[in-house]
Amino acid sequence: MTVPMNTGSANHAGQQSDALAHIPGEDGWPIVGNTFAALRDPVRHAEEMYQKYGPVYRESLFGVRSVAMLGPEANELVLFDRDKNFSSSLGWGFLLDRLFPRGLMLMDFEEHRLHRRALGVAFKPTPMKAYLHALNNGISRRIAEWHLAGSGQGGYTDLRFYPAIKQLTLDLAASSFLGIELGPQANELNRAFIQMVAAITSVVRTPLPGTQMRKGVKGRQSIVAFFRREIQMRRAGRETDLFSELCRATKEDGSLLTDLEIADHMSFLMMAAHDTLTSSVTSLVYLLGKHPDWQNRLRAEMHGLALPPGAPLPYERLGDLALLEMAFKEAMRINPPVPGIPRAALRDFRFQGHHIPAGTRVAVSPLFTHRMPEIWPEPLKFDPTRFADEVVRARHKYAWVPFGGGAHMCLGLHFAYMQAKSFFYHLLTTTAVSLAPQYAPQWQMWPIPKPRDGLQIRIQRIR
Ligand code: HEM
Repeated sequence: MTVPMNTGSANHAGQQSDALAHIPGEDGWPIVGNTFAALRDPVRHAEEMYQKYGPVYRESLFGVRSVAMLGPEANELVLFDRDKNFSSSLGWGFLLDRLFPRGLMLMDFEEHRLHRRALGVAFKPTPMKAYLHALNNGISRRIAEWHLAGSGQGGYTDLRFYPAIKQLTLDLAASSFLGIELGPQANELNRAFIQMVAAITSVVRTPLPGTQMRKGVKGRQSIVAFFRREIQMRRAGRETDLFSELCRATKEDGSLLTDLEIADHMSFLMMAAHDTLTSSVTSLVYLLGKHPDWQNRLRAEMHGLALPPGAPLPYERLGDLALLEMAFKEAMRINPPVPGIPRAALRDFRFQGHHIPAGTRVAVSPLFTHRMPEIWPEPLKFDPTRFADEVVRARHKYAWVPFGGGAHMCLGLHFAYMQAKSFFYHLLTTTAVSLAPQYAPQWQMWPIPKPRDGLQIRIQRIR
């Protein structure tokens, strides 16, 4: 049996209960299902369900029945999707379609391939070098400002890191994505964008007056209006920011993307980049604060580049920061910025002895897979050597999936490494990061990992 792609096969609580009855699992509380347990502690919840029911189970979350599929084999089946069984658009649509419609994750198969190819030009080495130039400038300036703001006696600054890096990531997007200077225009766009992102997880899904969804939808209107105003000018110009690159991008038939396509891709790219980078960089800062030995190892690697003090990190040297890359990967293993990835099954399929019917919502879990003790001994231990080449080769390819996999694998993956490397290069060559003794912040894991208290760190200038 197949389900046509655009019929919307939402599997609301109660609906299709017979079709999924043979799959182990539970419906939980009426209406809310297991939502509260999953929100309170998603890691524990998934572990308990796994113990009770095994790696494939059904449950109801946010009023939607879905089947969780845990582990690397499930990740490979669903993300690699050799048989084109799974729709990303129907999987993500219920969260994103009012706010970030027509982004790449909301397209499937041939249409998705065409748009992804067109966007690819914005991630080629020449534009990437231009973005890195903007990133180096913005990051080194901001770290210097953090130090200047310090009031401590010993030349240190106490900083709530999460809000500080969130603001920096927004400001960097203004320069490298949009090519605009910081100032009132950037602030206004940032505000609109923040409302859109906040609305993604809003409980009320209709834009009624006073709701977050209404603010999000209004935010979208003003962001789209900004892009549409600028497009003609950007097409004619030679600017090297990501937005200008997309304005000049063409599809396979040589046609330009339409104004609305550009606006939708741009706002989606900003959303895809923003919280993920904020979360992953925060996780690594925390782990380095806890592990000064690793700070020193990374610093030694950076000094090994022998760049003059204060010099930008050149694009050609990004590949020389192998230990830093391993540490960043390990931080995303422990706290994957996208903890769960949803899809909708377009055809019946079988997995580990279970028959799963077309129309079922399924979800794979980077968070669960990244902490499976049988794959990652002592899963909560920070050990970047897990990402040494020979260790990686011996592991299942889909055991580590912070960027997903298959056709929808993160398009901004190299951008993410580049921004993270630039940030840590400028931070660690100038600054020591420490945490108060015994400090153990609580982490919220869903919808994106973040320290509940904003992460209190101390930075001290070392150069
Ligand atoms: C550490 C940072 C990041 C993480 C962990 C991350 C993670 C992911 C994941 C898991 C997906 C796949 C979702 C799915 O299969 O349903 C994805 C897709 C995507 N990401 Fe990222 N991302 C990051 C940064 C970025 C950045 C910086 C950009 C843009 C510059 C970006 C742009 C995208 C786009 C456009 C897609 C959709 C790709 C497609 O559907 O073909 N991401 N990302």
